[in-house]
Amino acid sequence: MVIYTQKESLVQALSSGNKNNKIGFVPTMGALHNGHISLVKKALSENDLVVVSIFVNPTQFNNSADLQKYPRTPEDDISLLKIIKGEVIVYLPEVSDLYEGSVSAKKHNFNGLENEMEGKHRKGHFDGVGTILEKFFKIIKPQNAYFGEKDFQQFQIVKKLVAVEKLPVKIVGCPILRETNGLAMSSRNKRLSVKQFEEATLIYKTLKEVQEKFSSTSIADLNALVAEQFLQNTNLKLEYFEIANEKTLKTAKRKNKGSKYRAFIAAFVGEVRLIDNMPLN
Ligand code: PAF
Repeated sequence: MVIYTQKESLVQALSSGNKNNKIGFVPTMGALHNGHISLVKKALSENDLVVVSIFVNPTQFNNSADLQKYPRTPEDDISLLKIIKGEVIVYLPEVSDLYEGSVSAKKHNFNGLENEMEGKHRKGHFDGVGTILEKFFKIIKPQNAYFGEKDFQQFQIVKKLVAVEKLPVKIVGCPILRETNGLAMSSRNKRLSVKQFEEATLIYKTLKEVQEKFSSTSIADLNALVAEQFLQNTNLKLEYFEIANEKTLKTAKRKNKGSKYRAFIAAFVGEVRLIDNMPLN
C-alpha cells in the first residue's frame, strides 16, 4: 500500500503504471469501518488497482460544529487498509491540495435530486459533494467508483453528476452493511455512547416495520406510524421520514404501479445525526 498526500505525485504514479490498468476508486472521509472495507474489496475484485481517498471535505458541511466533530482516525484507517490483499493506493490530501484559493463549492444542477430530503436539511451539501467528486474523478480518472447505498440520495446524485459532466466513470452502488443490532454502519457511529448505539436501532427497527407493512398499509398510515414511534421514544429526535420514489427521490403520497419506493430517515441521537434507508418493493 502506498500513500500520497499530493495530487501531482498521485497523478504521476497512476500515469507511470500500465496504461491498461483498470482503476477502481473508493472515496471516503475516513473513520473507516467494515462498510468501507467491503467497498474496497469489491473494487479490488473488479479492477487492477484501487485508489482510496481519505478526505473530510469542508464544502459539504453546512454546520461548522459538525465539520469539527467529524471523526478523524487516519492512523487506524491506514492500519485497516494495510491488511487488505491487493494493490491499494491511498490519497490523503490536505484541504489546500484540492482547493486552491477559496474553499468553496461549484453550483450544481442535479435535476432537482439535490432539493429533496438531505438537500432540504443540509443546504449546499450536494454542491460540496459534487465539487469534490468532480475534482477526484478528474485527478484519478477511475473506470469504476464505488458508493455505499446508505447515502442513497448521494448515490443517485453522483450518477447524475457523471452524466451531466460527461465523466467516463461507472458508478457502482453497494448494499448497506449493518451492525449485529441492525444499525447501518457509519463513521458517525464512532461518536455514539454504548447506550446511544443501542437506542439508535430504533431507526433500523422502524424502517424494517415500514418495509414489512408497505404492501398492506397506505403511505399516510405509515407516516403516522413512524411519527408515533419517534414521539414515544424521546432519546431520538426525528428530522425527517419520507417514503420516496427511488428514481426521482420525490416524496410519495400514494403508491403507483410500476414505481419503486424507498423509506428514508434522518434522526439525531444526542448530537449525532444519522441517516438510513430501506427498499420497500
Ligand atoms: O460519502 C462520503 O463519505 C462523502 O460524501 C464522499 C463521497 C467521500 C465525498 O466527500
